[in-house]
Amino acid sequence: MANFVKIFDTTLRDGEQSPGCSMNLAEKLEVAHQLERLGVDVMEAGFAIASPGDFASVKSIAKNIKNTTVASLARALTKDIDAAADALKGAKYPRIHTFIATSDIHMQYKLKKTKEEVLATAVEMVKYAKKFCQDIEFSAEDASRSNPAFLYQIFEAVIAAGATVINVPDTVGYTSPEEFVTLIKGIRENVPSIHKADISVHCHNDLGLAVANSLAAARAGANQIECTINGIGERAGNAALEEIVMNLNTRKDLYGLDCRVNTKEIHKSSKLLSSITGVRVQPNKAVVGENAFAHESGIHQHGMLANKSTYEIMTPESIGLSENKMVLGKHSGRHAFEDKLKSMGYEMDPEALTTVFEQFKVLADKKKDVTDRDIEALVCRRVVQIPQAYKLDRFVINSGNTITTTSSMRLLSKTGHILEEVVSSYDGPIDASYKAIDKLVGKKFMLEDFVINSVTGGTDAQGEVNVKIRNNNRVYNGYGVSMDIVEASILAYISAINNMLYDQEEKKEV
Ligand code: KIV
Ligand code: ZN
Repeated sequence: MANFVKIFDTTLRDGEQSPGCSMNLAEKLEVAHQLERLGVDVMEAGFAIASPGDFASVKSIAKNIKNTTVASLARALTKDIDAAADALKGAKYPRIHTFIATSDIHMQYKLKKTKEEVLATAVEMVKYAKKFCQDIEFSAEDASRSNPAFLYQIFEAVIAAGATVINVPDTVGYTSPEEFVTLIKGIRENVPSIHKADISVHCHNDLGLAVANSLAAARAGANQIECTINGIGERAGNAALEEIVMNLNTRKDLYGLDCRVNTKEIHKSSKLLSSITGVRVQPNKAVVGENAFAHESGIHQHGMLANKSTYEIMTPESIGLSENKMVLGKHSGRHAFEDKLKSMGYEMDPEALTTVFEQFKVLADKKKDVTDRDIEALVCRRVVQIPQAYKLDRFVINSGNTITTTSSMRLLSKTGHILEEVVSSYDGPIDASYKAIDKLVGKKFMLEDFVINSVTGGTDAQGEVNVKIRNNNRVYNGYGVSMDIVEASILAYISAINNMLYDQEEKKEV
């Protein structure tokens, strides 16, 4: 289909690889289900050979996702391809994505191979992968800095060997839209068998051009774009999915290209990812930033009141943002609450719904206006269900600016034990509480990051806390929300510890 571009999401592979964005199996599965709802054509579930955890998540996503192609990355090595093929066994639509570098600089210094050797390896590995599945993507790593004539030659050869997609990565984010257009046109004109394969592009954002380069390539004939939610990825990130899709959508007049993505799922996908990784998007980020649809200036507001199209090129509703208004109060019943969640696009199992509803009731009792943002914050807290090794039972803090803070902490362990500890600190209630939890859990964690935000305006706003703790060179995220910011901080710390313990259990099982 000439006027159609496929969206290949690599949030779970290239995105997850970036610092601070790692996810556990349950979280990856949750994101995979959301990507399926979003309607991406392909999701890259991971790099199966990279670790037992990666293998397990590719396998689990392959088994559970039925409407989307599931890909696993593999270097051009038989052991990588074996692992990818094995992990993808249960997939309805599997794809092996194999790659080798083609630029002189990579071939000479990283691979220490001649171009003839690289060409032979690429062909041999595509043929090898083809024994396991029909759908084979071949990437020429660092393509934008490769010799175009060599690229034409290797692409022709891998298509003959069975590649169904050839990918042109701008691995180091070096190219420009004009240059990339020339490269894509060159590939179309100089690779005789190109009509037998899709042309994919994969752009990094080192110079801030990943989206522009991807869109320019699509206009020049690329029919697959690789990207990530919120643009997460190594260094400056990958091309942002939401920006690509909303460009295609808003400027259909210019691009004349359709994609399958349901734009109404964009906001939810972005929120889900930030609440899982604890990596928030900047407020002025295109499409999904907090301010992306806020018109503060008087001139804009005046124009908007007269006619929305004066300053609005896309509507908040088109990305699934509902209006931030008071919706429910303390007398609202479970049905009304469930309906509200559905209208916001959240479907929950009855157990999770009960918990969130109880939290809503507690909140509605304390807070005058309960907004969509408040409800969303509660839902995010419940987003991924993992076993809770520890739960907060209660805490008491004695604090002030002239006394030493004391935190008296009580946790419930999954074995049903009540654990209690009292800790004093000169460094305030959060320090005292975290030290008390460390003592109860029997481990001292390094707090890598602590971010607190208010969910809405007003002194009665809920506080949202994201923490990152380090243990044995791995970083774990935790999230907590409460009208009491000390409680939100405690909940976030306990959730990070539960994530860590779940991850360790998961590893034992693999
Ligand atoms: O950036 C890159 O070159 C990659 C490839 C493995 C596709 O991520
Ligand atoms: Zn990449």
